[in-house]
Amino acid sequence: MNTVIIGSGNVAYHLAKAFKERSLPVSLFGRNAGELERISDELDLPFYTELPKADLFLICVSDRAVEEVSLQIPYQDALVAHTSGSLPREALKGSYRKACFYPLQTFSRKQKLNYSEIPIFVDAETPEDANVLKHLASEISGSVMEISFEQRKYLHLTAVFACNFVNHLFARAKEIADAQEIPFRYFLPLIDETVKKIHHANPEDVQTGPAVRNDKTILERHEKLITNTETAKIYDVMNESIRTMYHLE
Ligand SMILES: NC(=O)c1ccc[n+]([C@@H]2O[C@H](COP(=O)([O-])OP(=O)(O)OC[C@H]3O[C@@H](n4cnc5c(N)ncnc54)[C@H](OP(=O)(O)O)[C@@H]3O)[C@@H](O)[C@H]2O)c1
Repeated sequence: MNTVIIGSGNVAYHLAKAFKERSLPVSLFGRNAGELERISDELDLPFYTELPKADLFLICVSDRAVEEVSLQIPYQDALVAHTSGSLPREALKGSYRKACFYPLQTFSRKQKLNYSEIPIFVDAETPEDANVLKHLASEISGSVMEISFEQRKYLHLTAVFACNFVNHLFARAKEIADAQEIPFRYFLPLIDETVKKIHHANPEDVQTGPAVRNDKTILERHEKLITNTETAKIYDVMNESIRTMYHLE
């Protein structure tokens, strides 16, 4: 199956690399010729600035550009999928077979990834197209599932809590450490262990810290140390959430 990846951002780069590693026929198309050329050189893949024909188009552009880009595909016999966790298939506006090909991972260009471990969720208009995408996805990943848009919305919401919010907490934690000139690297074993633990345990069962111990003296002491208003709000909300989950007075 001949695939054209549209875009030259984080997801486009990593999907192109995953396809290349599995020797799946793939080329790149997009509006950013400089970036396309850079990826093309690195991965030794062809790129186009005029849309070529293909069996499958994977639209890997910003969510707000998906509709506009989808209108540029004139091939009615093609299968076209976007890679967004939060858009329905109907965000694709052209006349062709529509689908979603959603890899559940946080993609940053410079970060190396093991593609075989990344769950890929597909959603297509027909069982035949779902099978085509599942087959393709299983060439890359050992974890491939079909999912409805209803469920995908919750998948994405869960990912926002489990990844985006947690990363923001790391950023806030680093601010506190930086202000005291404590190198953030000292926290990496703690962070790694926190994540390792939940590979085998329910997160709710392994909560530690002053909030779940209901240690009000420490909580008040911490509150006095926080100087940033936003960080103070997060500290309050997190403690309140923990108190509620563990039914603490
Ligand atoms: N990043 C993740 O962790 C992740 C994970 C799963 C799914 N996704 C989904 O994957 C898709 C791509 O995300 P990303 O993180 O790869 O985005 P990104 O790194 O910000 O790259 C966005 C790409 O879209 C292009 N673009 C933006 N507006 C455009 C327009 N009007 N016309 C044509 N091209 C346009 C950009 O081109 P320029 O360089 O010219 O601006 C760039 O190539 C999104 O739907 C996102 O929700 C992302």
